[in-house]
Amino acid sequence: MTVLASALDTGGPDYRAHRAAMLDKLAALDAEHAKALAGGGEKYTARHRARGKLLARERIELLVDPDSPFLELSPLAAWGSASPEYTVGASLVTGIGVVEGVECLITANDPTVRGGASNPWTLKKALRANEIAFANRLPVISLVESGGADLPSQKEIFIPGGALFRDLTRLSAAGIPTVAVVFGNSTAGGAYVPGMSDHAVMIKERSKVFLGGPPLVKMATGEESDDESLGGAEMHARTSGLADHYAVDETDAIRQARRIVARLNHRKAHPDPLTGEPPMYDEDELLGIVPGDLKTPFDPREVIARIVDGSDFDEFKPLYGPSLVTGWASLHGYPVGVLANAQGVLFGPESQKAAQFIQLANQRDVPLLFLHNTTGYMVGKEYEQSGIIKHGAMMINAVSNSRVPHLSVLMGASYGAGHYGMCGRAYDPRFLFAWPSAKSAVMGPQQLAGVLSIVARASAVAKGQPYDDKAAEADAGLRALVEAQIESESLPMFLSGRLYDDGVIDPRDTRTVLGLCLSAIHTAPVEGARGGFGVFRM
Ligand code: COA
Repeated sequence: MTVLASALDTGGPDYRAHRAAMLDKLAALDAEHAKALAGGGEKYTARHRARGKLLARERIELLVDPDSPFLELSPLAAWGSASPEYTVGASLVTGIGVVEGVECLITANDPTVRGGASNPWTLKKALRANEIAFANRLPVISLVESGGADLPSQKEIFIPGGALFRDLTRLSAAGIPTVAVVFGNSTAGGAYVPGMSDHAVMIKERSKVFLGGPPLVKMATGEESDDESLGGAEMHARTSGLADHYAVDETDAIRQARRIVARLNHRKAHPDPLTGEPPMYDEDELLGIVPGDLKTPFDPREVIARIVDGSDFDEFKPLYGPSLVTGWASLHGYPVGVLANAQGVLFGPESQKAAQFIQLANQRDVPLLFLHNTTGYMVGKEYEQSGIIKHGAMMINAVSNSRVPHLSVLMGASYGAGHYGMCGRAYDPRFLFAWPSAKSAVMGPQQLAGVLSIVARASAVAKGQPYDDKAAEADAGLRALVEAQIESESLPMFLSGRLYDDGVIDPRDTRTVLGLCLSAIHTAPVEGARGGFGVFRM
């Protein structure tokens, strides 16, 4: 039997405490997600509705197949942005949804937030969406209604923002279809979204697509014009040819977009597998596994047992490098190799085991799932002398040059180079999600503050300054300040706000979210690296 046994005491005080702490964090997360849903707030939402228009998420809901899920990505983008503070969600909704049976990457401007204008976080979110579409060969559907660049922050977006239009045509060149549905304004740079997309739908008396609006034209050439003759749907459908489809209203436009997708002949590289059996243990229990204090270790097999098919797990090298659990499983029918931190620290054997395991997954074309709870690679004389750097380097080499799709979930700590070895954001996992219990930084806040304090003290001594009571007091104050700062910068909402993940998820949704990702991933061919790794320093 390879079904995992569980030692989780769901009636015990630890479980109850962990669960309570997780529920508190989830409540805080819900409050932030609500801000994204509220968009520009009541006033602008009411105005939008009074104009007879649908909200961004309503447009998506009508676009996707009835009762099919929509995996929203980066809903917390722009969280924590200050001066200027941008609305949580960054005036853009992105995600993966099924349209006429085809998994698509959908983006929708939120016109209730500053006219749907794109700020620096909108741009990051849109570029991330394109990246996902590319890697997984997902058709892109853009539901457009935007005032273009957020003008006060143009310096952050104008130059890098050109990549948006470049991506659209590169997607097209790669055989990945692109569809634009224009619900309202799509001026200046925005005009290139329908311009560069394979298919463009415009709506009677709603779409406004021009390089320059009437005031700009008047200024530039003195010509008198109006919205409709410059860039209305009728003109583009009959005269300029920019519109391929003329819709009479929003629902008609969405219907036409669905018909376009139905005719794309976009086939998945891998047919959907038979659905795997559910885990033997209740997913709800995922709430009570991670301790509130991340210094307390937990057994990641308890998590694996609640997310993989039938809780069935064939562990690889269980006796070697036991601080990293590796093994084979399937998730919603898709094969996965799992790497999960057990005791937090990565030692030499764990790193070598990981490097070997990643190579095996590549030979077998099996996607990898990284479950993070690591404080990083072990430090200290003994470990340096036994080659922790070269062992960590082997793991990082393997993860960097691996070609199978990677999924990362930050359950708890994800510190230092451990974040890298476990396929952190910079290592291009196809998707990366965090639980509300996660923390990620160069090191733990206490350690970081302590290191800074030791360095400052040594520097003072070197300059001949005394370390007296006053200096000690100042040092303690500074330490507390630094600790608080690093703590707040390690939290998932902060990191998600900066697009360092694709979203913060409820642990109970992990299996569903990963299943949706694996399904999207298998739209593109899954092929591991046969060789092609860097030089492994042995
Ligand atoms: N940058 C920054 N703020 C913008 C913006 C932009 N591109 N477009 C709109 N806003 C702001 C408005 O100032 C307004 O703010 P306020 O409510 O605090 O006064 C808010 O967003 C809503 O705009 P409003 O004009 O009332 O909305 P609307 O739905 O009637 O019209 C637009 C939307 C997009 C048609 C109109 O705002 C517009 O033409 N904006 C400028 C478009 C442009 O030229 N962009 C440059 C492209 S590169």
